[in-house]
Amino acid sequence: MAVERTLSIIKPDAVAKNVIGEIYSRFESNGLKIIAARMLHLSQADAEGFYAVHRNRPFFNDLVKFMISGPVMIQVLEGEDAIRKNRELMGATDPKQAGKGTIRADFADSIDANAVHGSDAVETAAVEIAYYFPEFNIYSR
Ligand code: TYD
Repeated sequence: MAVERTLSIIKPDAVAKNVIGEIYSRFESNGLKIIAARMLHLSQADAEGFYAVHRNRPFFNDLVKFMISGPVMIQVLEGEDAIRKNRELMGATDPKQAGKGTIRADFADSIDANAVHGSDAVETAAVEIAYYFPEFNIYSR
């Protein structure tokens, strides 16, 4: 299986709940290595740019408002099948539908405050990683 990189964001709700370490443990114990990380309080322009694909969706304004409501923890994860593996650990977008033991089932409150983001494909992962990390700030093995 291919070694991939994916972009992960621990969203403001989960940062406020003080569960960054618990979420990092899940990545690490499932073969995902944290190869870059930064804590940021996103500006409106940052959040709008990051979620530009959703700009015509009815939830866009609320999503942006939520993403700038407090600091986020942003990381690049690397490992075999990292994109799919991270999304499996995250669980479904709506925490009510998320499988038992997933990050969203355990830490998310609602579909809009849903604890984590993870890239959904190789192409989006590359774009999302480049949005936050120049290659020289990524420390791969
Ligand atoms: P999406 O890319 O569909 O989900 P995921 O984060 O699981 O890849 O949507 C991006 C974010 O937009 C999602 O994490 C939360 C927000 N959102 C809503 O607030 N309401 C909705 O109905 C949907 C589909 C998403």
